[in-house]
Order: sequence, then C-alpha cells, then structure tokens
Amino acid sequence: MSGKSRVMTFSIYRFNPEVDQKPYFQDYDFDVSTIKGKMLLNVLEALKEQDPSLGLRRSCGEGVCGSDGMNINGSNGLACITQLKNLPDRVLLQPLPGFPVIRDLIVDMEQFFAQYRKIKPYLQNNDPLPEKERLQSPEDRAKLDGLYECILCACCSSACPSYWWNPDKFVGPAGLLTSYRFIVETRDTETTERLEELKDPYSAFRCRSIMNCVQVCPKGLNPTKAIQKIRTTMLKESR
Ligand code: SF4
Ligand code: SF4
Ligand code: FES
Repeated sequence: MSGKSRVMTFSIYRFNPEVDQKPYFQDYDFDVSTIKGKMLLNVLEALKEQDPSLGLRRSCGEGVCGSDGMNINGSNGLACITQLKNLPDRVLLQPLPGFPVIRDLIVDMEQFFAQYRKIKPYLQNNDPLPEKERLQSPEDRAKLDGLYECILCACCSSACPSYWWNPDKFVGPAGLLTSYRFIVETRDTETTERLEELKDPYSAFRCRSIMNCVQVCPKGLNPTKAIQKIRTTMLKESR
C-alpha cells in the first residue's frame, strides 16, 4: 500500500478477433494506491494479473524498448513512463491509431518496420577498411545527437496523418529521422544514394510539417526538423 486511496477508471479498448464481432471498451476500476509503481504500466500489469485475457506489450518498463506505445486519453505515449499522478481519474486507452489491431492494445508493427528497413538503417561505407576503426571527430559525432536515440516505439508514425493515409508507401517520421541520422553520418559513403531514394512523392515530400510526431515522441526527438533537413540537403546537392 502506498498513501491515500485513489480509485481510477481505466477504459480499455478490447478486441479479440477470434471471439469478438467488433471492438468494445471495458472499464476497470482500480485503486492505484494498492501498487508500488507510479506509472500507467504498473496498473496495466496489475490489471493483467486480474484479467489475463487483457492483451498488451511491454518489456523494459523504463522507456527503452519501445514496446508499450499506446493511445492514452487521445495522445500517443509509452505506458511505462506515463505517471499516474499526471492522469485524470478516468483514462481511455486505445491501441496506436492507424495500425492494424492484433488484439486489445497490441498492434501489428510489420508495416512500420518495413518502412524502417526501406531507408537502410545501418552504416554503409564502401571505402577500403582502415587498419583499426573508422574514426569520427567529436564535432561530427555531436551531429548525431537527437537522431540516434529513437527507440522505434511508433508513437510518431501512428500520430502522423500522412502515415495514416499511406502506411504502405510513406516512410513516416521514425524512418525519416533515422535516414537523416545516416545522411549526416560522416563515416557513411552512400549519402547521394540515400537522398536519391527519398526523392519520390512518398518519402521526404509526403510530410506536411503538421508536427504531431514531435508532440508525441517520448524521447523528445524532432522528426519534422530532420525531414526538413533532408529536403535542404537535397536542394544543396542538386545545385
Ligand atoms: S510533421 Fe510530417 S512526419 Fe511529422 S506528423 Fe506531420 S506529416 Fe507526419
Ligand atoms: S522518433 Fe520518437 S516517437 Fe518516433 S519511433 Fe522514435 S522514439 Fe518513438
Ligand atoms: S516497456 Fe519498454 S519502453 Fe515501455
């Protein structure tokens, strides 16, 4: 027990395609003072113990693995770093919008990862191998700050209207952020090819700078800025 009792209501999207004709919301009343943790995920884990049929994903419990992205009172976020004290007494929980639902709060991330794979999220260097490692100056390394920390939670792409309309075509904010990470990477030799591959209408140019992605990113990253920088780099390259 920890402190004064506070009964909250968690209204959770439920859908099991094997038994349900259509989705519905199930309300769970829960006294959050009865658990040690202070985060939304702590409650969800307690609810799952009570009701093992409740489907959700989680792993690290501390904002690192990116597996518990969900829509919390209308805004995407990670349950494990969402503090109960910052939530109202009634909380509406839904799966990430725009993604196919597998069950309850669990969505199919395959399309999202397919978009991520498309941008070749790894270092490419066709120069002969140096004797030791490929070095980078501290200044060049600093250019990667704000770009490499993405945990692939998909909160951004799931909040992006351009992604909702074209999830099979638009790379989306997460993929484009990582793409820019490798475009500014001084040890990567494929910058021109990377930029060339983003020139179609569904890559860098499908972003409408609505900035939903920036508002929801639990790591405080800025995909919109990265996308704008991709476009500026394209312009510079074409001069
Ligand atoms: S800024 Fe671009 S990528 Fe981000 S949510 Fe808006 S359209 Fe999507
Ligand atoms: S950019 Fe932010 S919101 Fe998008 S996948 Fe990465 S960590 Fe999640
Ligand atoms: S459980 Fe890993 S990020 Fe939330």
